[in-house]
Amino acid sequence: MTTPPADRAAQPAFPTTTPAVSAPNGAAAARAVGATKVYGSGETAVRALDEVTVEFPGGRFTTIMGPSGSGKSTLLHCVAGLDTLTSGRVWIGEVELGALSDKQLTVLRRERVGFVFQSYNLLPTLTALENITLPLLIFADEPTGNLDSRAGAELLDFLRRAVRELGQTIVMVTHDPVAAGYADTALFLADGRIVDWMDKPTSQRVLDRIKALGE
Ligand SMILES: Nc1ncnc2c1ncn2[C@@H]1O[C@H](COP(=O)(O)OP(=O)(O)OP(=O)(O)O)[C@@H](O)[C@H]1O
Ligand SMILES: [Mg+2]
Repeated sequence: MTTPPADRAAQPAFPTTTPAVSAPNGAAAARAVGATKVYGSGETAVRALDEVTVEFPGGRFTTIMGPSGSGKSTLLHCVAGLDTLTSGRVWIGEVELGALSDKQLTVLRRERVGFVFQSYNLLPTLTALENITLPLLIFADEPTGNLDSRAGAELLDFLRRAVRELGQTIVMVTHDPVAAGYADTALFLADGRIVDWMDKPTSQRVLDRIKALGE
């Protein structure tokens, strides 16, 4: 087992130096160090993630926000083991994904990771909700994007209870400040970097922060 290097100087001090957002036992459900993802090459290369260092504490509900194209889905996919980094390292629990064979990665994904895709029509029926309590981890990309506000609120309430009552870990990408208000912590991405974060977000504080970041 190797330990990750200290945070890169260019990154804001999130959240390893912030006790308020660490799991009680200090365990991270997932983390990335210097995570960089470049799509394409040469003049058309896109740096979707740029040296992101982040920790997702166990038993917490973290939301990732940011403008379209800021790298939210890329970060979620790479931390969940659905896509590989160009450089940098990712861990789920104590397991470094880059050290696994394809087969080991498949087993880890199947046994420990739940993923709700951005384009997936998640129907918040009881069955669907029960199903997503199975994995230890849940990564969700805009899970309320295709739902009306009542169904969306029901799903978000369920996700929050899964964290509070079952000790689940949830990382959710959303554009919606109301949805972000259900999380324990909000991260803000821009141009492939974490530019800010907020503990105990409310929809109003998130809206204010997005406005401030845009200025
Ligand atoms: N498969 C791909 N090939 C090339 N470029 C890609 C690919 N996937 C993403 N990108 C680019 O990487 C950047 C980050 O994309 P990503 O999908 O992570 O953004 P996002 O924050 O999830 O956006 P949205 O809010 O629209 O879902 C964008 O510039 C995007 O065009
Ligand atoms: Mg996306």
